[in-house]
Amino acid sequence: MRNVKSEIPLLPPAALRKIETLSVLRKEAAARQALAELKGFAPAIPNQNILINAIALQEAKESSAIENIVTTQDELYQNFTVKSSPVDSSAKEVINYREAMYKGYDIIKKRQAIGVNDIVKIQETIIENNAGIRRLPGTALVSGAANTVIYTPPQDYGEICRLLDNFCVYLNDEENSLWKMAVLHYQFETIHPFYDGNGRTGRILNILYLLLKNYLDTPILYLSSYIIKSKNTYYALFQEIREKGIWENWVLYILEGIEATSRQTLQKVRAIKNLFELTLERIREGCPKIYSKELVEIIFENPYSKIDFLVHKLDINRKTASKYLKELEENHFLSHIQIGKEVLYINTALMEALKK
Ligand SMILES: Nc1ncnc2c1ncn2[C@@H]1O[C@H](COP(=O)(O)OP(=O)(O)O)[C@@H](O)[C@H]1O
Ligand SMILES: [Mg+2]
Repeated sequence: MRNVKSEIPLLPPAALRKIETLSVLRKEAAARQALAELKGFAPAIPNQNILINAIALQEAKESSAIENIVTTQDELYQNFTVKSSPVDSSAKEVINYREAMYKGYDIIKKRQAIGVNDIVKIQETIIENNAGIRRLPGTALVSGAANTVIYTPPQDYGEICRLLDNFCVYLNDEENSLWKMAVLHYQFETIHPFYDGNGRTGRILNILYLLLKNYLDTPILYLSSYIIKSKNTYYALFQEIREKGIWENWVLYILEGIEATSRQTLQKVRAIKNLFELTLERIREGCPKIYSKELVEIIFENPYSKIDFLVHKLDINRKTASKYLKELEENHFLSHIQIGKEVLYINTALMEALKK
């Protein structure tokens, strides 16, 4: 791979007609179909927070792992639940990532558009600093193994801003295809507007795009698990556009990702739904004195629950909440772990379903 100096064409790409090839249009149709099935099935889970929480946290973990920030799942949920405990730094980045996604989701719900300032806010949340858009030169993309510069993004603040404005105009316009998400993701990573966090911000923009264009009602489709398995292809296809102007392989790669991930997510949603209904039934029969639908929802909204959650959501006192959790544990719905002063109750069956 050679170092390509930036001279980034504005969107839409001049080669637009070349993007909509027959194979792209076929793949676009297949991806739309898979995504529509997922969108259609998601409301079968009565409380959407269950889905959003579980799936978003999983994505936060995987998207961060692409950038070599690795945290194990168990640590992650624990850190999220025990707010007061000293949070391990990589788990913290993952939690920030999830918070950034929720911020983006709120913006979309309120305004049905994404602006440059929103993108800056999302990145700030991930990175936890407000350096904002790059003003100092020196940022380059370096390939890990050989330590060579493979790409130098624009260095000039004014140029970066101009490219980001153009990015947002194109993002918000009336062209709604799925292949456009691939074009946008490439462009964003090529502008590389920030000192750090460009990859993660770009992948959050992907899900926001799907929400904005009504491909989904809730943020439950994420490509990171797909990208992580094909990281070298992901990087190489960026370079193929830069060096040779070939879009098709990149667009097909992203469309395939949407299709495959939609199917996997659909399976996961089905598994969560079945488990939820089964647990509802079993708690109703096995623990009739404490049973309520809200209680079951709490232990699904958070794979790790604690007394506070029950106190707030069920409006009961701490003693009663503790009694409920203990009874659920005695009946094998939960198992507890102690972290510092805090006791957490794990929904182990849900954790298993999420890991699959
Ligand atoms: N040729 C390339 N090789 C590798 N990564 C690239 C390339 N072009 C763009 N990128 C993007 O750069 C991201 C890494 O940039 P960075 O600012 O460190 O983001 P983060 O901190 O989220 O990892 C990658 O995830 C990828 O999306
Ligand atoms: Mg980085």
